Amino acid sequence: MDSDLSLHFLRVVEQAAIACAHTVGHGDRHHSDHAAVEAMRKALDSVPIDGTIVIGEGERDEAPMLYIGEKVGMAAQGGAHLTEVDIAVDPLEGTNLCATGAPNAIAVLAASERGGLLHAPDLYMEKLVVGPSAKHAVFLDAPVAHNLKGIAKALDRRVEDLVIVVLDRPRHEHLIYEIRATGARIQLIGDGDLSAGIAAAVAGTGVHAVMGTGGAPEGVLTAAAMRCLNGEIFARLVVATPADEERCREMGVTDLKRIYTSEDLASGRSLVFAATGVTDGGLMRGARFFGDGVRTSSLVMQTNPHRIRFVDTIHVSDSEDVRIRF
Ligand code: FBP
Repeated sequence: MDSDLSLHFLRVVEQAAIACAHTVGHGDRHHSDHAAVEAMRKALDSVPIDGTIVIGEGERDEAPMLYIGEKVGMAAQGGAHLTEVDIAVDPLEGTNLCATGAPNAIAVLAASERGGLLHAPDLYMEKLVVGPSAKHAVFLDAPVAHNLKGIAKALDRRVEDLVIVVLDRPRHEHLIYEIRATGARIQLIGDGDLSAGIAAAVAGTGVHAVMGTGGAPEGVLTAAAMRCLNGEIFARLVVATPADEERCREMGVTDLKRIYTSEDLASGRSLVFAATGVTDGGLMRGARFFGDGVRTSSLVMQTNPHRIRFVDTIHVSDSEDVRIRF
């Protein structure tokens, strides 16, 4: 996949983030999500690719746009001889965060050559996300205390000095108890285990791991980010009902107990990951409107060539009197 596409994908997530940032704090998560989806779908039309959505807003009959299997990009508009690209999107990760004005809502997209992103069913997934130093020190099925000891050793600090992000859900009651029993600190979040996972793989964010169960689509997007950041996600689908099993089989998942790593979930040789802040977060600021324009903060990463970019963009309106501030 052409590495220059990363800048096209940057524009796509910027447009999605700007659109839903207009709705921050309005208290209507569906409206926020819709704004992001519409803007992302429109922006994808002008990307010079023959794109297919592999992780999106659901099946065709439940989502009018960005549904699984939808063709996007200039090829869908009649453009010929364009690169085939698989795309995973979460136009607004953290719909509640956006609706309530809470931190860490982001617009996200990952892309790879055909077949490079797992077509994960929309189920839950058990996850353990760590950064590069700790990835050889943990195992999904190891006791929590063992993993935390390993992470602490890898990061050359005490277990008491670790910060572990966990989604604040009743299903995590026992996990929270086990983490606290080791003396490690927990950051409970209302939503957004994807941006927490990215933070865990970047030194200096104050986040050392993410543990617990969240969405499988977010797991694939996290895996793409981990491939770029040299971090790791260990993950297993939560297959709780016969309907879940059926769903897995439909999507081609046969080993229901498999522990996936980032290489399994995002196996592409040439991956791009792009995210733009909607509300303020540890790595990206939220979109800021200043009358004559909007300023966005994004993270754009690729594996080939291997590059991480933190991008600060000022989208200027057409007025001659616009003043730019540093
Ligand atoms: P939305 O963006 O769809 O609101 O989901 C956010 C999120 O918190 C994810 O980050 C997480 O993986 C998942 O939802 C957890 O699902 P649930 O809210 O059902 O526990």
